[in-house]
Parts: sequence; structure tokens; C-alpha cells
Amino acid sequence: MSNILILMGSPRKHGNTSILCDEFARGAEEAGHRVEKINIADKTIKGCLGCNGCQRNGGKCVQHDDMAELYSKILSADVIVLASPIYYYTWTAQLKAVIDRTYALLSTMHNKVFYLLSTCMSPDESWCKMMLDSFRNYLACYDETVTEGGYLFGFETGEPGDVRKSEATMQKAYEMGKGV
Ligand SMILES: Cc1cc2nc3c(=O)[nH]c(=O)nc-3n(C[C@H](O)[C@H](O)[C@H](O)COP(=O)(O)O)c2cc1C
Repeated sequence: MSNILILMGSPRKHGNTSILCDEFARGAEEAGHRVEKINIADKTIKGCLGCNGCQRNGGKCVQHDDMAELYSKILSADVIVLASPIYYYTWTAQLKAVIDRTYALLSTMHNKVFYLLSTCMSPDESWCKMMLDSFRNYLACYDETVTEGGYLFGFETGEPGDVRKSEATMQKAYEMGKGV
């Protein structure tokens, strides 16, 4: 049994990315895993100050906000799902703030499998290269025990719920969760 943490970075709580997360979670729970999904937009998470304070004092960020709770959840998770719609080819600002703040975990993030779940207006993966590169380059910043489990894009999703129109995408999200 794995502890799975889903960091859901869309400000639309019932939007397409959230729907994909729920399908992933349904599969993972059926497979016996414990899943926690956090709507990042509900949290107060400031941008990284770049002060390097965390690098000097054993990984403790100098800022006091909801990231404190996320640091401990991230460190105790076996599997982390980064879930974000594509905003101008990359993460939402909300999830990017979390990613930047994990700079404090550079030397303490070990033994985790990361997944990327994402949705976008674009019709195919050729438009998602920057997002996928960013995800992979992020993982490459940690040691070799931090690995990629998989990724999934939902295409042509403008209005909340559009992702349900693609049964194949919904099925892939479910199976990805089940296969953790
Ligand atoms: C500010 C903003 C920027 C966006 N940029 C892109 C983009 O670069 N590429 C794309 O394909 N879709 C883009 N979209 C569309 C969203 O990625 C798409 O509608 C997504 O499904 C929204 O996810 P959600 O329903 O989970 O909020 C953008 C939407 C917004 C609001």
C-alpha cells in the first residue's frame, strides 16, 4: 500500500484536471492505496524568495504559510501526482509556487514516484512539450530515487467537464491510478 498525494493545481475545483485526478484516485483506491488530494488554490502558498535560507538551515523555509503542511505531506508520500492545466505552455502559478518552494527539499526528497496529470485546449501532445520537459527536468533536480511513474494529458478541454468527452482519457487516468 502506497501513500499517494495529489497536488491539484487548477483554480477550478471541479474542472478538467480535478476530474482526471479523481479518476486516478478511484483506480488507486481500488488497488488498495491511500490517496489524499489537495486543492492548492485553497492554500496560501507564497512564491520562493530565492534567499537560500533553506539551503543554509537544513531545508527549513524561512516563510510561514500553508507550505509547512505540504512539506510534511510531500516527505511522507510515496507517490506524488502533480496535476495542473496548461497555462501558457506550463504550470498554473498556484502549482508552480509549490514546485519552487520544494527547493527546500533538495537534499531530503528521496524514494518518490511522480506522475503528471494535465489538461489543455490543444488537440495533441505536440503542444505539451514544454510542460512535459518541465516535469522531467524538475524530477532530474533530485537524486535517482525520485522517478517518473507516468504522465497523461487531456486534450481539447475548455469548459469544466470537457475531459469526460474522451472516454479513453478517463480510462487512462483510472488505469494509471490502478497501476501505481
Ligand atoms: C490563463 C490560461 C492559459 C492557458 N494556456 C493554455 C495553453 O498554453 N495551451 C493550451 O492548450 N491551453 C491553455 N489554456 C486552456 C486550459 O489549459 C484548459 O482549458 C484546461 O482544461 C483547464 O483546466 P481546468 O478545467 O482543470 O481548470 C489556458 C487557460 C487559461 C485560463
